[in-house]
Amino acid sequence: MFKPPKTILITGCAGFIGSAFLKKFKEKFPETDIAGIDDFSTGRRDAFDPAGIRFYEGSILDGDLLDKIFAKHRPEYVFHFAALPRVSFSVEHPYLTDRVNAGGTVLLLEKSRKFKIKKFVFSSSSAVYGRAGNFPTEENNELHPLSPYAAQKISGERYCRLFSELYGLDTVSLRYFNVYGPGQYGDSPYSTVIAAWLESLYFPGRKKGFIEGDGTQSRDFCFIADVVNANILAMESDKPLSGAAINIAGGYAISINEVGKKIESFTGKKLNLVNCPPRIGDAPRTVADISRAGALLNYRPETKFDDGLKQTIQWFESRGKS
Ligand SMILES: NC(=O)c1ccc[n+]([C@@H]2O[C@H](COP(=O)([O-])OP(=O)(O)OC[C@H]3O[C@@H](n4cnc5c(N)ncnc54)[C@H](O)[C@@H]3O)[C@@H](O)[C@H]2O)c1
Repeated sequence: MFKPPKTILITGCAGFIGSAFLKKFKEKFPETDIAGIDDFSTGRRDAFDPAGIRFYEGSILDGDLLDKIFAKHRPEYVFHFAALPRVSFSVEHPYLTDRVNAGGTVLLLEKSRKFKIKKFVFSSSSAVYGRAGNFPTEENNELHPLSPYAAQKISGERYCRLFSELYGLDTVSLRYFNVYGPGQYGDSPYSTVIAAWLESLYFPGRKKGFIEGDGTQSRDFCFIADVVNANILAMESDKPLSGAAINIAGGYAISINEVGKKIESFTGKKLNLVNCPPRIGDAPRTVADISRAGALLNYRPETKFDDGLKQTIQWFESRGKS
């Protein structure tokens, strides 16, 4: 029987996934103390209630601050969500994104080792596969980064495994595929497709919807609650995960054109998309083999795409009313 930890640390707790994880974790393990860190570079101040946790505004690149947080709170588990996470942003800023996404991960691993945490859960990405040749893609598929972001996630994964092998620190890399859901804003130029299109429908003054390429590219979308659950399952797993990389996804692909049709059908609104050339570094197709997640974590995606999309639409509608 899993014993809830006394304390955990969440990096990137003001971000889309980190804040959803924080909320669910508090509900599920109300006795656990939560320390969080975020520098708000892409996160939002209204994404979480800082009163409910020990929150530190600062960067994961600040080693002294990390020492202070680890020494004071002694987290048993570290959930590492903080990153500069957009593929196209990394194409424009390889060095800056490398410092945070790769270097920041190594620094957190060093502190996790120094303070002897139980497990380090790293947010990796399906981007590591690039143009994967085999579908559904298994974790042992060749890695072929098409962007600095993908190379940085591969680096983070390799360091996680190395820290397990060299120092016996238990780590795991969860490779999320295209996460979507309530709480994901679509207002940045780097927003992902579902959030960006819904933003253009509900806030047309703020955002123009666009489509890159011909829309036949397909994606394995993963609902936010399933990603949150995978992180909790990784913590609860009683076997050492020893640096394993594990796909976390819905396990089926849907084309971007099909996503557009569903959005129009569920909202009753017409998407007016501007056509743009295909994006540099974008993979034409992603679909995950999720059997390892089932075997190692007992993970099963619980939200069907249509249900997840409807919940996401409801959230955009509620924002429109507030
Ligand atoms: N959203 C997806 O589809 C997806 C897919 C695969 C992997 N991921 C990974 O999941 C994690 C969370 O992604 P997200 O979608 O919630 O992104 P997000 O941008 O919403 O959240 C990232 C958070 O990290 C914070 N951050 C960035 N740099 C920091 C720094 N130097 N110090 C402290 N905090 C910092 C940001 O302010 C933000 O709150 C990332 O590691 C991302 O690469 C996301």
